[in-house]
Amino acid sequence: MALELPFINRALDHLLQELPAPSRPAARHTVEAGGKRLRPLLCLLCARLLGADESNGGRERLYRLACTLEMLHAATLMHDDVIDNADLRRGQPAAHTVYGNTEAILAGDALLSTANACVAACGSTKLCDVFARATAETAAGEILELHALRNCNLASEEYLAIIRGKTACLIRAACEMGAIFANASDEQVAAFGTYGEALGMAFQIVDDALDVADAEVIGKPTGGDLREGKLTPPLQLWRASLSPEEREVFNDKFTRGAFTEEEVADTCKKIRAAGIDTQVRAMAQGYLDTAKDAIMSLPKGSDLDVLLEILTYVRDRRK
Ligand code: IPE
Ligand code: IPE
Ligand code: MG
Ligand code: MG
Repeated sequence: MALELPFINRALDHLLQELPAPSRPAARHTVEAGGKRLRPLLCLLCARLLGADESNGGRERLYRLACTLEMLHAATLMHDDVIDNADLRRGQPAAHTVYGNTEAILAGDALLSTANACVAACGSTKLCDVFARATAETAAGEILELHALRNCNLASEEYLAIIRGKTACLIRAACEMGAIFANASDEQVAAFGTYGEALGMAFQIVDDALDVADAEVIGKPTGGDLREGKLTPPLQLWRASLSPEEREVFNDKFTRGAFTEEEVADTCKKIRAAGIDTQVRAMAQGYLDTAKDAIMSLPKGSDLDVLLEILTYVRDRRK
C-alpha cells in the first residue's frame, strides 16, 4: 500500500498545477499537509483487481482519475473545517486559519471543479455520473448534519444517514470509479460499491471513536464532536451511562453548546477511561463484514488481499 503513495502524490502534484494560480496556495496547503490517500488508493486497487488496462498511457490516466477523489476529499475537508470552525487538519493549521474563510472556500471550489474537468476528460458518462452524485451526496450529508446539530435525541437512523452521505458515498464512488475504469460489468461495479459504502460507514464510525483521542495523534482537535454538538456513538454511549441528574446537565450544555474547554477535555478523558472506544469499534464490525462479503466472489490475488487488509486497518486504526 505504502509503495503507491509516491506515485499518487506525484500525480496529485501535476493536477494541482492545473488549478487556477490564485487558488493553488490554499489548496496545496491542505493537499500537501499529508493524509492517508485512502480514496485514491481504493480506486487504484479496485481497477487493478479487475485487470484495468494500464498500457498506452492507461496507467497515467488511472492515477489521474484516482487523484480526482483526493481532490474532492481535500475540498470537502477545507469546507468542513470552515463549517466546523476547526483549526487543525492533518496536523497543520487548517487552511482557513492561514488564508481566511473566503479563500479557503474558493480554493476548495477550484479543487472540485478541476477534479470534475479531469474526470470528464476520461470521456465516460458513467464516471462523470458517479463523481457528480458523490459530490452532491457529500454536501447533502453535511447539510443533514447541520440540521441535527445539538440534538441530544438524535435517532440512530438519522446518524447513519448523515455518515452515509458525508463519508461513505465518496468512498463508495472511489471503488465504483476504479471498477468502471476497468470496464467492469454493472454487477461488478455494484459489488465494489457495496464494499466501498460499507467500508465508508465503518470508517466514519471508527473516526467518531477517534474523536476523543489526543490531538497530537489524530492531527485534528480532540473532542470536536462534543464541542460542535454532534451526537456520535461515543457521546451517545457516554450520555446513556450518566445518572438522570448528570444527563440533565449534559443535555442542557449539549443543546446550548455550552461546554467549557476543560469540560470537553475532561469528558474525552472519561470516555477513553470507560472503554467506550472499544464498544464503538465493535459497532463498525457489522459494516466490515458486509464489505468483506461483497468482494469475496471476486478474482483472488494480491489486490483482493489488500482490499481485505484495508478492512482490518479501518477497524484497528489509531489515527
Ligand atoms: C477525514 O478523512 C474526514 C472523514 C471522512 C472522517 P480521512 O481520515 O481519510 O483524512 P485524511 O485524508 O487521512 O487526512
Ligand atoms: C467528515 O466530517 C466528513 C467530511 C469532511 C465531509 P467531520 O467533520 O466529522 O470530520 P473531521 O473530524 O473534521 O475530520
Ligand atoms: Mg464536519
Ligand atoms: Mg470536521
